[in-house]
Amino acid sequence: MAVDLTKYVASIPDFPEKGIIFRDLSPLMADGTAYRQATDQIVQFAKDKNVEMIVGPEARGFIVGCPVAYELGVGFAPARKKGKLPRETVKATYQLEYGTSELYLHRDAVKPGQRVLVTDDLLATGGTISATIDLVKQLGGIVVGCAFIIELDALKGRERIKDYDVLTLMHF
Ligand code: PRP
Ligand code: ADE
Repeated sequence: MAVDLTKYVASIPDFPEKGIIFRDLSPLMADGTAYRQATDQIVQFAKDKNVEMIVGPEARGFIVGCPVAYELGVGFAPARKKGKLPRETVKATYQLEYGTSELYLHRDAVKPGQRVLVTDDLLATGGTISATIDLVKQLGGIVVGCAFIIELDALKGRERIKDYDVLTLMHF
């Protein structure tokens, strides 16, 4: 029996700043059944896409992408924030719902022509995922899909990734 994943999201008003309702997925990740169900749904989405690599942005994109990579038997590359990756990188700059940031990917993280699934916990404005897609494309990778657990509809992030096949497991 499938569980209702929305029951595993904690909504915290005014975090990290006034006016933001923070959607916290840690209750979902703390529950083995819910975490597995979310992972399995993303794995099903990926199955017919011949995914060869998963890329997820720091930090919560790792929590979503790594179990999917394990299940598919493919690799995972972390897109990291400034100053974290020790070797040669490519860089993308982006805006957040709150603030701006930069993401980096090791230059050898994705091979030209490789089929990449991009994962994150949550789609808000789409800035983070657009930067992640940009990094994959700079390396010549082919983004075959984007998967998230939560989509914040009002922030219209989906419009920024309308050219891609997108899966989100729940909407707020
Ligand atoms: C959050 C979230 C997504 C991003 C979504 O990450 O995990 O990556 O924001 O927002 P966007 O669609 O407007 O870009 P955050 O930058 O807070 O970093 P964290 O995962 O390290 O907490
Ligand atoms: N990342 C960007 N906006 C967010 C929100 N409202 N809740 C959790 N993570 C976020």
